Amino acid sequence: MTDPIQQASNLISTARSVVVLSGAGMSAESGVPTFRDAQTGLWERFAPEQLATERAFRAHPAMVWTWYMWRWHLVHGVAPNAGHTAIGQWQQHLAKTQGSLTVTTQNVDDLHERGGAQDVLHLHGSLHAFRCIDCDRDAAFNPMTMELGPDQEFDEANLMSPAACDYCASGMLRPGVVWFGEALPHFTFETAIEKLQSADLVVVIGSSGLVQPAASLPMIGRDAGAAIIEINPRATELSQTADVYIASTAAVALPKLVSEVL
Ligand code: OAD
Repeated sequence: MTDPIQQASNLISTARSVVVLSGAGMSAESGVPTFRDAQTGLWERFAPEQLATERAFRAHPAMVWTWYMWRWHLVHGVAPNAGHTAIGQWQQHLAKTQGSLTVTTQNVDDLHERGGAQDVLHLHGSLHAFRCIDCDRDAAFNPMTMELGPDQEFDEANLMSPAACDYCASGMLRPGVVWFGEALPHFTFETAIEKLQSADLVVVIGSSGLVQPAASLPMIGRDAGAAIIEINPRATELSQTADVYIASTAAVALPKLVSEVL
């Protein structure tokens, strides 16, 4: 049986229009916890309904705000891993050779961008964007002005109030992420679908595939005729139907694959 890395390299070497779909596992080796991995996943330690809904924010704004400030500081303190960098290099290579690579991510961190990728589509928003919960205006806000405790951990005994909106009297700033029950950013989602409809290769990395509508995106690529490669140390529902399933991590597998095309 052919080695999955070799099979994937064959697909990659001929692909001209590539879509990378990434989830939390993409950033795990940078030190950003995933959501559902046993023991380390955020939703193993915290309750999503208490931290990732508008209702929770309105009921306990300081709790929710401090949790997002903690996540912002966590991401700010880490670096892109070899997988992020490989994707950035691959995108630049394809751009120079009349091809294209679009990164569509469920991640709210900026590690793809810091790894060199451009025009990243953030389906679930960003930890780095803020807007008013009431008037909806975008706000320039620097989380560096919010200091966590000395251990840089989320501490329920040391909560910070959300920053105030500069425009409306009552408003508080909220993080620009997509909470449960909220729609995905329309333009971003439509662009992601368009790119998949013209892709010849879709590479799915580090997602459990349990959250819709993001979980349906690989099938849009497949229906349009694209081959699917999945990279994930643990098999998912997609693994059986992917053209190639690589049971490895983002930072190990991606540099190997990309070095074949560069
Ligand atoms: P999950 O935490 O559900 O899944 C992470 C996946 O990454 C799992 O399948 C792991 O096996 C895999 N994984 C772990 N380490 C990896 C590594 N080093 N390399 C590659 N893969 C690895 O994360 P998502 O599928 O991204 O939404 O979660 C989807 C959404 O659920 C998130 O965007 C978030 C969450 O609720 C919102 O907050 C709206």
